[in-house]
Amino acid sequence: MDEKHVILDAWRKKVEGIQSDPPIDYKTVFNETVRNIGDVKYSLLDIGTGAGRVIFENNLNKLYRKVVGIDIRPEMIELCKESSKGMKNVEFFVMDATKQMTFKPGSFDVVSAMFPPFNPSEINRVLSPGGYFILLSSLKGDHKEVVKYFPELERFSSGNYSFTTLKALSRNLRNSGFKIVATTAMKYKWIFRDEEVLKRWYEKVAFRRIFDGSEEKLASLRRNIDGKITITRFLCTTVARKH
Ligand SMILES: C[S@@+](CC[C@H](N)C(=O)[O-])C[C@H]1O[C@@H](n2cnc3c(N)ncnc32)[C@H](O)[C@@H]1O
Repeated sequence: MDEKHVILDAWRKKVEGIQSDPPIDYKTVFNETVRNIGDVKYSLLDIGTGAGRVIFENNLNKLYRKVVGIDIRPEMIELCKESSKGMKNVEFFVMDATKQMTFKPGSFDVVSAMFPPFNPSEINRVLSPGGYFILLSSLKGDHKEVVKYFPELERFSSGNYSFTTLKALSRNLRNSGFKIVATTAMKYKWIFRDEEVLKRWYEKVAFRRIFDGSEEKLASLRRNIDGKITITRFLCTTVARKH
């Protein structure tokens, strides 16, 4: 199977065998915010849209006047185009969110970003005055048990994405012309049924085979008494507004 099909196959497959403790859905605050800010007058840009989860799971085409999704991977954009057939106000483009985007200044009222690499000044540029940036990101300490053995996992999927502290993230946004409206940080545990599930999950989000040939390191991960593996999650939903 070529790389494109490995990625698409992974995205279509649900990874079973992961439990949260406490059993919370890390996307809830982010999704509710994206929906609640929605207005039929507003346009929204979802960066690093992947399979378009943010757009499709929240029916954003019904809540916003116009919805645009971008991703650096052409195969993800193809998948999104398939899923959006018949939706008149939704468009997808292959684009790098870390470079200058081809949108005019002030093109969007809301920019959403669920775990993508991003350039805050560029997001600020494409937002209208008072526009919202809604971000779900990993904080330093997220996946710490795995990152200890596989430091390259701090650079998920591509480019410049690495975990930051809440303080540094807020400073970065403020320095790029944003006012922080709300932050909701959450820390919890993910319990993987076994090594195989853990491998599948990380390779799905990292878009590549990362554990091949490193079984020894993987075996060093601490097991619970029942053989399960516990991983720390530390995430934050940030809502920022353009000045
Ligand atoms: C962890 S996935 C998240 C996907 C989606 N937001 C979700 O939560 O389901 C990160 C996405 O960002 C995309 N990506 C990585 N680098 C990018 C870049 N420089 N510009 C735009 N998208 C990028 C990847 O292709 C991937 O689809």
